[in-house]
Amino acid sequence: MDTVNTDSLVLLSKLEVMKLFVDTGDVEEVRQAAEWGILDGVTTNPTLIAKSGHGFKETVLKICDLVPDGEISAEVVATDYDTMLKEALEIHSWHPNIVVKVPLIEPGVRLVKTLSDKDIKTNVTLVFTVSQALMAAKAGATFISNFVGRVDDISDDGMNAVASTVDMVNTYGFDSQVLVASVRHPLHVVKALEVGAHISTMPFKIMAMLFKHPLTDAGLKRFLADWDEAGLSIFPKA
Ligand code: E4P
Repeated sequence: MDTVNTDSLVLLSKLEVMKLFVDTGDVEEVRQAAEWGILDGVTTNPTLIAKSGHGFKETVLKICDLVPDGEISAEVVATDYDTMLKEALEIHSWHPNIVVKVPLIEPGVRLVKTLSDKDIKTNVTLVFTVSQALMAAKAGATFISNFVGRVDDISDDGMNAVASTVDMVNTYGFDSQVLVASVRHPLHVVKALEVGAHISTMPFKIMAMLFKHPLTDAGLKRFLADWDEAGLSIFPKA
């Protein structure tokens, strides 16, 4: 009988690639990021939707069309359980790829438990500490959005809570995925990889910066100049 190499299984389970989400309500930005072929999902929040200048449902549905295999987070805006539940069910009914985004407040955690029992995906937002993340994970959150930039802004290291939350999820076997939010620069994305976060969401501008290196630009310029100077061609010359 074949033996199962459990070390390989563990390694394989650890090799799942960190997903990249774009954090925007701008449909054109989503279109461009989707064209790059590396986009796994989109997060929005009430501020981003307000900035888009278009309606909530209309914007979210356009985003769903542009990223047909992605997870698209759309946030409730009420702060009492009953209204939050009504909003969550309404938002969920718009499209199967929508993940209901819920703030980490007491009725929010209760709502996440209700939605999780109905197999509705949730993204718990405005999480800053591992104790808040524990509440979200216990309630069955699909994603835990741990904000880093807003913590860095007040002279602390936002990535510390992310690292602790990743450890907690892995140690105790929670199903929640840790989503690094409030990303301000490419180094946040690199640090998110280092601590083993499952997802990073970032403004379009930051995603575009992930491609960039001055030596890439200089190197390509040189390759193409040398090629042209030698009069070479990939295709037979007519
Ligand atoms: C997360 O989903 C939020 O929409 C977002 O990352 C907040 O980022 P900010 O701190 O740049 O507003």
